[in-house]
Amino acid sequence: MSTILLDRSAIRSLINMSEVINVVEEAFKAWAEGKANMPPKAYLTVERGDFRAMPAALPGFAGVKWVNSHPFNRSHSLPAVMAVLICNDPETGFPLAVMDGTEITYCRTGAIAAIASKYLARRNSNTLGIVGAGCQAYTQIIAHAELFELTSINAFDIATENMDKLISSLPEYPIRKCSLEEAVSSDIVCTLTPSREPIIKRRWVADGTHINAVGADGAGKEELEPSILRDAMVVVDEVVQASHGGEINMPISKGLFTVDEIYATLAEVLTGKKKGRTDSKAITVFDSTGVAIQDLAVAKLIFGKAQERGGYPVLGLV
Ligand SMILES: NC(=O)c1ccc[n+]([C@@H]2O[C@H](COP(=O)([O-])OP(=O)(O)OC[C@H]3O[C@@H](n4cnc5c(N)ncnc54)[C@H](O)[C@@H]3O)[C@@H](O)[C@H]2O)c1
Repeated sequence: MSTILLDRSAIRSLINMSEVINVVEEAFKAWAEGKANMPPKAYLTVERGDFRAMPAALPGFAGVKWVNSHPFNRSHSLPAVMAVLICNDPETGFPLAVMDGTEITYCRTGAIAAIASKYLARRNSNTLGIVGAGCQAYTQIIAHAELFELTSINAFDIATENMDKLISSLPEYPIRKCSLEEAVSSDIVCTLTPSREPIIKRRWVADGTHINAVGADGAGKEELEPSILRDAMVVVDEVVQASHGGEINMPISKGLFTVDEIYATLAEVLTGKKKGRTDSKAITVFDSTGVAIQDLAVAKLIFGKAQERGGYPVLGLV
């Protein structure tokens, strides 16, 4: 037996968004049913950013993602977020694969936001707002376009060149540059910045809006005015993680929001334990911090496809 090595180009050639959406949704359901095991992320903070170790076990597949978040990496011509996945057989511990986790992170982050939108946004949503046109923006658009008939994608970024790159890289989607306020007036809004202070004002958020708050995934980060959370149905991916590092972390630390005000976890909504959107006028917020079962579910899918296709480099680790 050998360990398969899958680099970024291999992952790109094997990955497909509609399959990613399916396996990520199934993994959340398995987790809700006690069929997945996932301890909290371990954080390692360094001067310019942080690292996270994200372990999880799904039926037949286990592993860990080692991922960083370095918001100032553009000056080094590097992405802010880069990741490697080590995948093991849970029966024996055998290392099945070492794979690029950066592309998988992009895809699973887009997928989980689109899944949240499927349950929390208005069914007839056809405009998508993108706040922050960096690396995560691409898969938010691709994943939402899998599930919604998007007539307009309204993108804002403080860096015009990032918006221009997004628009020229995805010519098949109806993306247009707009102001921050216009982006927030979309039916579904994805916030994708490393901001450490609220940039989305409560007064810009219309009744019926669904917001995927994705950018805040570490302590001290926040993108939404806390009054948005007070007026919204707030769904989180993982309560402890969201409380310490998600969109709700700063409002909680300032006494402006409490854990008791969380409406549900996404797994509770996906399994029908809690209802998704029931009122077309409600404001809904999905606080996404990113959980390891998302990554492992996609890694399992990719590993299966790589085994079928064959011909990838291997490591003789054991
Ligand atoms: N929740 C999750 O699962 C998850 C997963 C991956 C990344 N993230 C987080 O998402 C954020 C974005 O990640 P990325 O990889 O796209 O980073 P990136 O550096 O590629 O992109 C960030 C973009 O935000 C823009 N921006 C910064 N401040 C802004 C502001 N005030 N208004 C508008 N635009 C602004 C930047 O110009 C840049 O284009 C980071 O905070 C990252 O840690 C979360």
